[in-house]
Amino acid sequence: MSKLVVLVCGGGNGAHTTAGLAAYRENMESRVLTLFKDEAERWTNLMKENDFTVQVSDANTNTSTDLKAKPTIVSKDPATVVPGAHLIIFTMPAFAHPTYFEAIRPHLDDGAIIIGMPGQPGFEFQCFDILKDKAKSCTIMSFESLPWAARILEFGKTVQILGTKASLMGSIINAKTKPPHDPLQSMQKVLGSNPVLKQTSNYLEPYLLTKAIVHPPIMYARWKDWDGKPLDKVPLFYQGVDEMAAKYLSGVADELMATAKAFQSQNPKLDMSHVIHLTDWYRQDYAKDITDKTNLMTCLQTNAAYDGLVHPMIEKDGKFMPNFGYRYLVEDVPNGLVVTKGLALIAGVKTPYTDEVLLWCQKTMEKEYMVDGKLTGKDIQETRCPQRYGYSTIDDLVSIL
Ligand code: NAI
Repeated sequence: MSKLVVLVCGGGNGAHTTAGLAAYRENMESRVLTLFKDEAERWTNLMKENDFTVQVSDANTNTSTDLKAKPTIVSKDPATVVPGAHLIIFTMPAFAHPTYFEAIRPHLDDGAIIIGMPGQPGFEFQCFDILKDKAKSCTIMSFESLPWAARILEFGKTVQILGTKASLMGSIINAKTKPPHDPLQSMQKVLGSNPVLKQTSNYLEPYLLTKAIVHPPIMYARWKDWDGKPLDKVPLFYQGVDEMAAKYLSGVADELMATAKAFQSQNPKLDMSHVIHLTDWYRQDYAKDITDKTNLMTCLQTNAAYDGLVHPMIEKDGKFMPNFGYRYLVEDVPNGLVVTKGLALIAGVKTPYTDEVLLWCQKTMEKEYMVDGKLTGKDIQETRCPQRYGYSTIDDLVSIL
C-alpha cells in the first residue's frame, strides 16, 4: 500500500498531537495546515532547531513516553499541502471550520477523506454547503470528541497527552469515489491502538451524542440568578454541578434521546441505537474516574478527570467575573445546542429544557437564534442548524446519508 499522506488542519493542542503521532507512524507522511496568524512560520522555525515531541503520560504507572518525530511541512498555503493528501483531519474549535473548508476546496483530490475530530454538530451540513459538488467525491467522517485530553507544553515543540479515551465513535458518509485507503483503518493507524474507533450508524448519531450540550446548561444553572457582583473565588465547573444544574443537563439529554427515538420511529433508515443518555455515557466512558455513579450529579461531582476544572472567569483586582465570551457558550451554542434544537424541531419533539437554556444563552451572548420556539432569529446564519442550510424534514436529513 502506498504511503498514507495525512494533512492535519489547525495549530492547537489537538493539531500538535495528531501531527506528531502521524509523523511517528511508519509509511505515513504528516503535513500541517494552519491558517491562524503566524503559527505556520513559528512552528516551522522552532522545528529547525528542536525536536518535535508528543509526551504520552500514563496516570496508572505515573510514567511518560516521548514520541519524537517531525511533520514534513507546516504551512499556511493550502496549495502546497492539500494536493496529494489522503486524510484531511480538522482538529480545531468548530468556529474555525468554515475558513478551512474554504481554503482546501480548490485543491482537494477526488477520493480525499475529510475528518472532523471533533466534528461537532452541523459539520456535515457546513461541509456540503461550502464544498458543494466536491464534497460528493470525498468521504466525510466526524468523531464525537478529541481522542485525548491534550495540552501544548511548548508551542511547536512539545505536546502532552494527559489521558486517552478507551473508545471513540465516528460517522462516515461514503464518497461516490472509493478512497485508496480505508477511512476507519487509516484513522486507527494514525491514533495507534487507543482509542478503539467505532463507526456509528449515520452522521446524526454523534450530533445527539455530542458533549457540546454539557457546557451551556451548566453555565445557565450557575449564572442565571447571579447578582452581577464579582466573586472572591472561582467556582468549580463540572464538580460544582448542583441539583439544579443536573436537572437542566439531564433535561436537555432527555430531549436528545427523545429526538433520536422520534427519528428512528419515523424513518427506519435512521438507526439511532448508539445514542445513549449522558448519564450512561459518563458511567461508561469515565468508569475508572467516577467514585459515585448514582446519578448524573454524582457522576460529575466525583469525576477525578475533572479535578481542578473551573468556570471560565476574568480576574480583576483579585476578584472574578464570569467569562461569557468563552467557548462554552460562543462555540457550543451555535455549533451545539442550536443544532440539536433544529433536529428536535424536525423530529417534532418538544424541548422545554433546551429552550429555557437557549433563551438565556442567546440573551447573554447578545445573539438572536430562536424566536417563539423557531430558529428564525437574525443571527441564525452564524449557526450550523439544519434549517439554515435548507434541511427541514427527515427526508432532507436522510438525503446525505
Ligand atoms: P485549541 O484551543 O488548542 O485551538 C486553538 C487553535 O485554534 C489555535 O492554535 C489556532 O490554530 C486555531 N484558532 C484559534 N482561533 C482561530 C481563529 N480565529 N481562526 C482560525 N483558527 C483559529 O483547541 P484544541 O484543544 O486542539 O481542541 C480542538 C477541539 O477539540 C475543540 O472543539 C475542543 O473543545 C475539543 N476538545 C479538546 C480537548 C483537549 O484536551 N484539548 C478535549 C476534548 C475536546
